[in-house]
Amino acid sequence: MGGAKRIDVVTLFPAMVAEAAKVGVTGRAAERGLWALRCWNPRDCANDPHRTVDDRPYGGGPGMVMMAGPLAASLDLARRAQAGDGVSSTRTIHLTPAGTPLSHARVAELAARRDEGLVLLAGRYEGIDERLVEREVDEEIAIGDFVVSGGELPALMLIDAIARQLPGALNDAQSAVEESFVAGLLDCPHYTRPERYEGVAVPEVLLSGNHEAIRRWRLEQALRRTWERRPGLIEGRVLTKEEQGMLARIRGDAVPGRQSRKATSPPETGTTSGREHPPGPTSGPNNAGRQEPT
Ligand SMILES: C[S@@+](CC[C@H](N)C(=O)[O-])C[C@H]1O[C@@H](n2cnc3c(N)ncnc32)[C@H](O)[C@@H]1O
Repeated sequence: MGGAKRIDVVTLFPAMVAEAAKVGVTGRAAERGLWALRCWNPRDCANDPHRTVDDRPYGGGPGMVMMAGPLAASLDLARRAQAGDGVSSTRTIHLTPAGTPLSHARVAELAARRDEGLVLLAGRYEGIDERLVEREVDEEIAIGDFVVSGGELPALMLIDAIARQLPGALNDAQSAVEESFVAGLLDCPHYTRPERYEGVAVPEVLLSGNHEAIRRWRLEQALRRTWERRPGLIEGRVLTKEEQGMLARIRGDAVPGRQSRKATSPPETGTTSGREHPPGPTSGPNNAGRQEPT
């Protein structure tokens, strides 16, 4: 199975990364020995009394650029530390808006390589001297088509996404399997107590205790959401016969690209519009689901 997935982060704000990583799933997974973190501050590798890590951009323009020297020295320390701890190979990833957008597929690949250490390079200011990137970086990843102030949050997002894929990280292993994108679809909607909230009831099918009907309803909801909100995901996916049938029904009343809040009729269970559900052993959160306004 292999040891802990080793991740080092080169950052001007090591405390921010280390503290945030201690919380929730990532923190528990680290306590369970599934992954391990070390942070490296390029200021510790600066060669002047002011611990300078940035300078003005050649060619002029606003802002400052992170200098190659302190970053190269930090990357070297991180790689040596990984090698010293028995990590056989190291991959260096630069978090940047100019990188490849992060996907579930890439997260799963990175998580599956337990033996491969990651060194994440978090930029600040206008970014990093390109010569350092060309020389030292294996891969560039963006967390979305927007700009945040530093690479620490993007690095934490990548760490979190990887950590929850590590076997044993989630208390209910099914959670990671049933999440959005894992099966190429968005997740279905979820519900819990109370059974009626602000006049909106939980769909009857989810209170039925009929596991097969619930599975079909959830699949159709996932397909519907994906078709309405992210039709491109469906176009890039091979559909089962069951899914093709559901999608044909959905296409009859859904407009791709539009976020619809309208209620849907669960297949073979009829509409749940405005229904009350009898209290009883099947009315708890473990049987909960979705409904429309009355
Ligand atoms: C203010 S940003 C620099 C933005 C850069 N000048 C640009 O326009 O692409 C500072 C740092 O934040 C990180 N960053 C910002 N947005 C990001 C994103 N969408 N994905 C990954 N990293 C990002 C990068 O490490 C970047 O070097």
